[in-house]
Amino acid sequence: MSVFHTLVARSLPLVPRPIVRRVSQRYIAGETLAAAVATVRALNAEGLMATVDILGESVHDAALVEQALRDYLDALHALRDARLDSNVSIKPTNFGLKIDFDLCYEKVKALVVEARALGNFVRIDMEDSSCTSATLDLYRRLRAEGLENVGVVLQAYLRRTLADVAALPDRPNVRVCKGIYVEPPDLAFKERGLINRNFAQALQALFDRGAYVGIATHDEEVVYEAQRLVRERRLEPRQYEFQMLLGVREPLRRVIRRDGHRLRVYVPYGPQWYAYSLRRLKENPQMAGYILAAMLPGSKG
Ligand code: FDA
Repeated sequence: MSVFHTLVARSLPLVPRPIVRRVSQRYIAGETLAAAVATVRALNAEGLMATVDILGESVHDAALVEQALRDYLDALHALRDARLDSNVSIKPTNFGLKIDFDLCYEKVKALVVEARALGNFVRIDMEDSSCTSATLDLYRRLRAEGLENVGVVLQAYLRRTLADVAALPDRPNVRVCKGIYVEPPDLAFKERGLINRNFAQALQALFDRGAYVGIATHDEEVVYEAQRLVRERRLEPRQYEFQMLLGVREPLRRVIRRDGHRLRVYVPYGPQWYAYSLRRLKENPQMAGYILAAMLPGSKG
């Protein structure tokens, strides 16, 4: 990324919210469950699976945790009623991880149990490094209770990730991504080459452990290496899937599908769009241009 991009990225919190909203629309399905259902339906029609994320994080009020659970239960039922191919992704801090581990565990368990009854699946996203150990504990505890329809995420930028693979339960279900939070260098690799190597190592270690793996990236180098591993190990399409974010690199999405791999799109929705949008914009190489264009007088973005 250029120095200019970094400068604009640092100034993003100063950009008026309506502008952030306008330029980040492509990343969000909308504010309502109906909007998310419509987006998933369109993706399914293209032969793509989905995972629905209700935006929200860092919750410090137990009443909001209850609300998050209710909203996710509604989403699971709406997906079932519409016969859509989509699971759900949740953020542990939206389920109260920063309030109390047991509270979070009980609420996530209630969701996973209901998802099981509906024949669906819950992915636990990974947040910043202050959450890593607790999130993995959450996953291990759910699995220890016999719940199989749940998966977790590991981040290739973390130095601890290969050790975390080794400490997962048998037949884990893991999404691997690079990781999006700002972490100190003693915890995380900073260099793209090293992150990509760790990504490939994590995929290998997970396949060795018989994991079902979600390969979550828009980086062609990582996609290339993952496809090489899939070929080398003669994996069946049902043993892994690629995953991409809504609104990012749709042409690459089509190439991956054309090559015969399954692909799932991450579909975020809800009124709490701001924090997620900032993270996505910072990763967009064209972000500075979009922001500046949207700020010009008379621009409709
Ligand atoms: P990289 O950032 O190198 O991007 C590769 C190329 O893709 C870029 O050069 C650019 O062309 C394009 N690109 C990437 N992002 C873009 C954007 N926003 N707009 C336009 N172009 C873009 N992280 C995390 O910490 N915890 C999690 O639980 C998840 N979950 C998750 C689910 C799914 C399905 C995906 C795809 C990603 C995540 N992530 C995540 C985010 C992940 O950690 C990472 O930040 C992004 O995927 C970007 O990394 P890439 O692998 O795409 O590589």
